[in-house]
Amino acid sequence: MPPRPFKALVVYEAEKNTFTRRIEECDTSRLPENEVLIQVKYSSLNYKDALSATGNRGVTRSYPHTPGIDAAGTVIESSNSGLTPGDDVIVTGYDLGMNTHGGFGQYIRVPPEWVIRLPKGLTLRQSMIYGTAGFTAAQSVLRLIDYGITPEQGTVLVTGATGGVGSIAVSLLAKSGFQVIAATGKADQKSFLTGLGAAEVISREETSDTSDRALLRGRWAGVVDTVGGNTLSTVIKSTGYRGAVTTCGNVSSGDLHTTVYPFILRGISLLGIDSANCPHGIRLHLWEKLSQEWKLEKIDQLATEIPLADLSNHIDLILQGKLKGRTIVNMQNV
Ligand SMILES: NC(=O)c1ccc[n+]([C@@H]2O[C@H](COP(=O)([O-])OP(=O)(O)OC[C@H]3O[C@@H](n4cnc5c(N)ncnc54)[C@H](OP(=O)(O)O)[C@@H]3O)[C@@H](O)[C@H]2O)c1
Repeated sequence: MPPRPFKALVVYEAEKNTFTRRIEECDTSRLPENEVLIQVKYSSLNYKDALSATGNRGVTRSYPHTPGIDAAGTVIESSNSGLTPGDDVIVTGYDLGMNTHGGFGQYIRVPPEWVIRLPKGLTLRQSMIYGTAGFTAAQSVLRLIDYGITPEQGTVLVTGATGGVGSIAVSLLAKSGFQVIAATGKADQKSFLTGLGAAEVISREETSDTSDRALLRGRWAGVVDTVGGNTLSTVIKSTGYRGAVTTCGNVSSGDLHTTVYPFILRGISLLGIDSANCPHGIRLHLWEKLSQEWKLEKIDQLATEIPLADLSNHIDLILQGKLKGRTIVNMQNV
């Protein structure tokens, strides 16, 4: 097939460590030589995309580059027998949008192993309301449940609660019968969080201990931490006996200062969450759950839909911690 023209957000390194971005005309001949060409209908904005768009070398090594770790769309060409033109599919994680042209372009070309058929029960748009953030929230909640945390053991705390991962974690935990405490830096978003199912909303300061104490009062049976840094050290020392804390994020910091005492005196566990390279079987299981048993009735209320033209502005906002819920990009609306 002749190359197809399309629009994409492209990030350039203007001079060493100075980055600019603009929407420009590309064509499919510039995409990597993989087996499956997908027309992207929706993408979504994750914190990692903003890092890629601003030159974070831990995410993206070389530029020009099109970020976008999430994409949902329709197969256009496939040399893989398992995928046929016309199939609706989703791609999240792996190397998409990191060092491979990502979902902020109207076409992507990816290996078949990265592709998942759109689960029954979800539209393409809804799959991107979840996106990597929702998938990560689901993985975090499942890890706590599989570890053995039950609603009878006490409350579960979610930090960075109005963010993408946080807001979906609050919703999934509440749907699973947990009493959820939401910690946020946005004092004006209490009703948003209680609307998602939080039983109580506390301020970010309550999860930012500045004492040198090795242990604080055990308040939570489990924690979904999306923030890292001092927030993570604080929640580790305020988790109750045999509780568990999941860690997926670093919006505050990638550092973690702790002692062994929460682990050896309270028997708490720290559970690491990675979505990019999550094994295929677990991926399928989690997407199945998100589309059926854990499907959120209010999923559409979590999303702000923007056209591609507004993406650059929203990249700045997510870096400032100013967005709430999920931001999805309608890739057909330029
Ligand atoms: N491990 C993985 O596979 C994986 C997958 C997805 C995401 N992540 C990571 O998870 C984190 C959250 O991602 P996201 O997409 O949910 O981002 P997001 O939508 O920007 O949400 C982050 C939230 O954290 C809070 N926050 C922001 N800056 C903060 C600061 N300096 N100190 C404390 N809290 C702060 C804010 O919520 P409040 O105002 O409500 O406090 C913000 O909305 C990121 O670090 C991302 O890279 C990891």
